[in-house]
Amino acid sequence: MRRQEGGCERQLSQHNVEIDLLKYRPEALPVLARIWQEGLGRLWQPGITIEEVEERFRGHMKDEGLPQTFAAFVQGQPVGMCSLRATDLPGSSLTPWFGAFVVDPAHKNRGVGRLLIQFAQARAKNMGFERLYLFAFDRTIPIYYERFGWKTIAFESVQGHAATVMEALI
Ligand SMILES: CC(C)(COP(=O)(O)OP(=O)(O)OC[C@H]1O[C@@H](n2cnc3c(N)ncnc32)[C@H](O)[C@@H]1OP(=O)(O)O)[C@@H](O)C(=O)NCCC(=O)NCCS
Repeated sequence: MRRQEGGCERQLSQHNVEIDLLKYRPEALPVLARIWQEGLGRLWQPGITIEEVEERFRGHMKDEGLPQTFAAFVQGQPVGMCSLRATDLPGSSLTPWFGAFVVDPAHKNRGVGRLLIQFAQARAKNMGFERLYLFAFDRTIPIYYERFGWKTIAFESVQGHAATVMEALI
């Protein structure tokens, strides 16, 4: 049965972007896995197969505890995703982490990303967390996250890539 948590279980925006838990929309997994692979995996895990990506996010199909993945839909079609995970940055004791954040290029710049971030932040808050973390490889994207209250707290090297670690008070 679906649980309402502060009204953020399912969200329909004024632009007809719907955010839902992947657990409740398992049919979206193949499309989201492809969006993830082309938008993020291609750059940071080029050897990963689509089957491995699907397997990873199948493990995120939860509505309690972590990890959880949230999916964005436009007219019923999956167009983006993000996740909350207990751990993400190797060696860090910080928790939880926002990640796997990607929007289909055909649907960028229409606020889908903003809705996904806000949904994930609300979910983390409703789980009782006061802080949320992320790391970003992209050099300019911290400016985008700053719009939502994120602040840079460290610079790390992750898998040989320079990464910015950010924190949000939620
Ligand atoms: C980042 C991403 C998820 C945002 O999705 P979106 O639905 O386009 O986001 P929104 O519509 O809420 O916001 C769009 C704004 O983000 C800005 N933005 C997107 N990527 C950016 C980047 N790498 N650096 C700086 N700004 C960026 C856009 O320029 C746009 O700015 P504007 O509002 O001034 O026009 C999407 O661009 C994406 O999938 N990027 C590739 C994957 C990625 O980098 N993920 C983040 C990993 S940390």
